[in-house]
Amino acid sequence: MLVGKKIVLVVTGGIAAYKAVTLTRLLVKAQADVRVVMTKSACEFVTPKTFSVLSTHPVLTDLFADTTDPAIDHIELADWADYMVVAPASANFIAKMAQGIADDAASSVVIARHTGIAIAPAMNSNMYQNPAVQRNLNQLSADGVKIMAPEQGQLAEGYAGIGRLAEPENLFAQIGILAETDEKTLTGKRVVVTAGGTQEPIDPVRYIANHSSGKMGYAFSQAAVEQGAQVTLITTVDLTPPPFTKVVHVKTAQEMQAALMQQYDAADVVIMAAAVADYRIAEPATQKMKKQADASGLTLKLVENPDILAELGAQKSHQYLVGFAAETQQLLDHAQAKLKKKHADLLIANDVSQADIGFGSDDNAVTLLFKNETPETLPKMSKLEVARQVLKLIKPRMEEA
Ligand code: PMT
Repeated sequence: MLVGKKIVLVVTGGIAAYKAVTLTRLLVKAQADVRVVMTKSACEFVTPKTFSVLSTHPVLTDLFADTTDPAIDHIELADWADYMVVAPASANFIAKMAQGIADDAASSVVIARHTGIAIAPAMNSNMYQNPAVQRNLNQLSADGVKIMAPEQGQLAEGYAGIGRLAEPENLFAQIGILAETDEKTLTGKRVVVTAGGTQEPIDPVRYIANHSSGKMGYAFSQAAVEQGAQVTLITTVDLTPPPFTKVVHVKTAQEMQAALMQQYDAADVVIMAAAVADYRIAEPATQKMKKQADASGLTLKLVENPDILAELGAQKSHQYLVGFAAETQQLLDHAQAKLKKKHADLLIANDVSQADIGFGSDDNAVTLLFKNETPETLPKMSKLEVARQVLKLIKPRMEEA
């Protein structure tokens, strides 16, 4: 979380400097304490006044500014910061960072840092792909600088290609994770999460689905990334993924099974938050099925899908396996049975008959059934908070297991 985090935001020259205004607003709204440093060329695009109003702090632009205000002294700022961000980061500034040049306020603050730093490159696509720029970026990565990659898209001067500054909301999400200095409990751990309801085709137009929105799975992905895990999200839906998350899109239960089996050996934790259909159409039609002339109705022959969680439980070696139980009655009985039958280490039971939790909602209320332990209930809270609390509870049990 960014509350109270002291962020130095360095803004360098480029048309994307205007996006740093939105980024500043997002950081301040998240109750981070932001101080802005600008290069001379950045001031050609956005005035320091804009940033000083938004950040409620003076903006440092000139190394030799005649002021006794420590808030805009480069060493004081470097000492003050919990984390530094350079957005946008121009080719010139990237080169200065890579070569340790400190010839202005911005480069002097950056070189005096003793905190983490992330940069968001933004420039013309030809510049971005120039070997010198790539060499400098590689050097900065080797120095431990986090690179918030640019995107493909429309650039200035009518160009299109890679080099477009990532959107402020994306940068904000990444900074929220990178600037988290609290001890991360899952660093180096590979966590695989499934999300969303599977879609079982009837014909090229229709499919059998369920009410799962994917929010619970995405929440676990976000919480795992926050704890430093390497996250792979196998999903049937396309929500905005958490930063630093590898996303694998699937639709059917069989596709989900195949994707999971590819990841299972290397996984440390598997969290089966997806709503997997127990059945699929035996033989989906290859063309759109037409209505019957007579009103005889339509019969669909269903066959069982693989029970993926049970398969993972049967093949479990070092993995910590988390299953869910989506029930509408006898929640604990059904969940206890699933915990045993599927050899999971934890079964998260949720009552999906309630409108304000479970499918589609932002909140959930769950009962945690850890193997050989008394059930533990988490009251209604955001799905992200559920995920954060569950991961905290898993950590010591992972080590024991
Ligand atoms: O996605 P949201 O809208 O945020 O809703 C969240 C949720 C309600 C979907 C989630 O909290 C949840 O309960 N997910 C599991 C839904 C489900 O399939 O529960 P189940 O009781 O039918 O299945 C039990 C477990 O076995 C689940 O972990 C499921 O992923 C798994 N399973 C089920 C069937 C199957 N053929 N293979 C499986 O692996």
